[in-house]
Amino acid sequence: MQTGKFLYGGDYNPEQWLDRPDILEQDLDLMQQAHVNVVSLGIFSWTVLEPEEGVYHLDWLAEIIDKLHARGIQTILATPSATRPAWMAHKYPEVRRVRADRVRELYNRRHNYCYTSPIYREKVRAINEKLAQRFGDHPAVILWHISNEMGGECHCPLCQEEFRRWLQNRYGSLAALNKAWNTRFWSHDYSDWAQIESPAPQGENAIQGLTLDWKRFVSSRHVDFFRFERDVVRQFAPNARFTTNMMYRFHDIDYYEMAKEVDVVSWDSYPTWHKPTETVEETALDTALMHDLYYSLKNKPFILMESTPSFTNWQPISKQKKPGIAMLSALQVIAHGSDSVCYFQWRASRGAEEKLHGAVVGHDGRTDARPFREAEEIGRTLPKLTQSLGVHRIKQAAIVHDWNNMWAIEGSCGPRNAGMGYWKELALHYNGLARAGITVDFVNQESSLEGYGLLVLPMVYLLQEDFAQKVCRFAENGGTVVVTYWSGVVDETDLCRLGDTPYGLTQLLGLRRTEIDSMYDGELRRCVMVSQPDKTATHASILCEVAALNETDPAEPLMVYDEDYFAGCPALTVHSYGKGQAYYMASRFEPEFYNEFYETACRKAGLASCKPEHLAPGVLATLRGELLFLQNCGDKPATLPDGGELAVYGTAVYQTGETLQRIL
Ligand code: GLA
Ligand code: ZN
Repeated sequence: MQTGKFLYGGDYNPEQWLDRPDILEQDLDLMQQAHVNVVSLGIFSWTVLEPEEGVYHLDWLAEIIDKLHARGIQTILATPSATRPAWMAHKYPEVRRVRADRVRELYNRRHNYCYTSPIYREKVRAINEKLAQRFGDHPAVILWHISNEMGGECHCPLCQEEFRRWLQNRYGSLAALNKAWNTRFWSHDYSDWAQIESPAPQGENAIQGLTLDWKRFVSSRHVDFFRFERDVVRQFAPNARFTTNMMYRFHDIDYYEMAKEVDVVSWDSYPTWHKPTETVEETALDTALMHDLYYSLKNKPFILMESTPSFTNWQPISKQKKPGIAMLSALQVIAHGSDSVCYFQWRASRGAEEKLHGAVVGHDGRTDARPFREAEEIGRTLPKLTQSLGVHRIKQAAIVHDWNNMWAIEGSCGPRNAGMGYWKELALHYNGLARAGITVDFVNQESSLEGYGLLVLPMVYLLQEDFAQKVCRFAENGGTVVVTYWSGVVDETDLCRLGDTPYGLTQLLGLRRTEIDSMYDGELRRCVMVSQPDKTATHASILCEVAALNETDPAEPLMVYDEDYFAGCPALTVHSYGKGQAYYMASRFEPEFYNEFYETACRKAGLASCKPEHLAPGVLATLRGELLFLQNCGDKPATLPDGGELAVYGTAVYQTGETLQRIL
């Protein structure tokens, strides 16, 4: 979006304050004071917009949009479909979702409409048309926020029918479907499409191809609903731009598919800072991983749609952000490619579920409260970084994160039903790369690999044949590939590959998997470097793969297991392939292992680190365009490259070039 400035503001719910014009008036002054230039409006406003069926009240919203606009504050306008009025849910039961156990929900909460219901679509169409007619060409409305945090699943009869149609379209015949799902197992062959039902706790849950396709179907329903809503608005607002807010480690929707439909990716970030089980640096990296994933979906700047200025009220324990963390997180998201910093929410609600959630303006309405003061300071700081607005990031390393693969891993029984730790695996590689000062993108199995120097395949259990070939070509042309255990096991419908595995990668890696041994939580197996057999290098955990080197053109073992029946078997190997290299990690190692591994592997792959030398541990370096952000996530002040001191949680920003020029 071309607004010429970082968007700064957040969710604003004036519909909760319509009986307090004094507060609405005060909001305008306070927003200006905090340098707010955008708000998201109308997300949960349906009952005020349409208090009775077919009776629309839009004037109050128009008045607010205009008043904000007069103060230089623009609007991200939401469609209200995330939560619908009670009158609708009672009159038309089909708009309410049916749970997996086949119980239809009562009127409750939000984010729980049936995305297939023709009546719900008709009602959404009507309200969206009214909004688009009224605000479609309003100069203040810069972006449309479709629904809110879409997700979940509906198992109603309408959705079952739609699922069967979707399957018919995908497989053509029942014979093909039965084969793809291996339904002969336990004699579950289907002889009529009508026999197919969505997975249920008291129903089918053993056909894992069905479970995987159900997840794909549910995801496609959400994308379809987004498209439907967007296209209704577009009819009246041909130049409108669209987003929908995504979530942390979210499973229900293949966001690569959703990203194809939005103009700009946005997401809601709520890290749990100050957990006793994690350092601030680890929390920062966990957050950065998500920022980088959302940047990667469209390979362009995204929007931080929500974050808390202080604390949430829905996490197990909601801690206050310590002084400095709000600024650290705001500058971190800019460093990783966001063109906004937005909060949930501007003003704290008085009642109901979120009354105790943090907000820029609390119940006391004071501007000397810490959240307000910090928000004001952030609002004052962002314009100093305008040169990185809209700026893309360089391509260096990519990690494969594919929703189909994640769904398939979760849907499978064995080898560790105690948890495979998929996200943990991703984080180990991400953290190693990020700590080495390398820019990390994420790709799925459809993405282009062009421009990357290093590619990581962490637990790519469901590996498409064409992607395996692409990975081999990537190495052949000089790329560095890292493949971990639990890769290349099944095909697109979760059928085990016949023949040697990791399927499609055995030539690339110079080895094949022969066994997998599962470890209990906390069980470790010592590993030693081949070059230093007397010193423990790291420990293996979770799954220990046993591999046999190929007879011709074998991989070179760099590290081996040093205990258990597989002592002496390769734990880490390297293999030259064409002009490139392929590493294989047979197990999950300790975090420090990845720091050293990626520092060396990236250097060998010719990837330039953006991290100045001799930075204290805990200082993260991130490059966006020509700006280098150094953030002290450690617990001691750190020395900067120019000799200055960086306070704990402080950020220094440099213009790069021949020399580093500090600009913040
Ligand atoms: C989500 C929702 C918001 C609000 C916040 C609270 O991100 O989109 O409406 O409930 O959580 O943290
Ligand atoms: Zn439904």
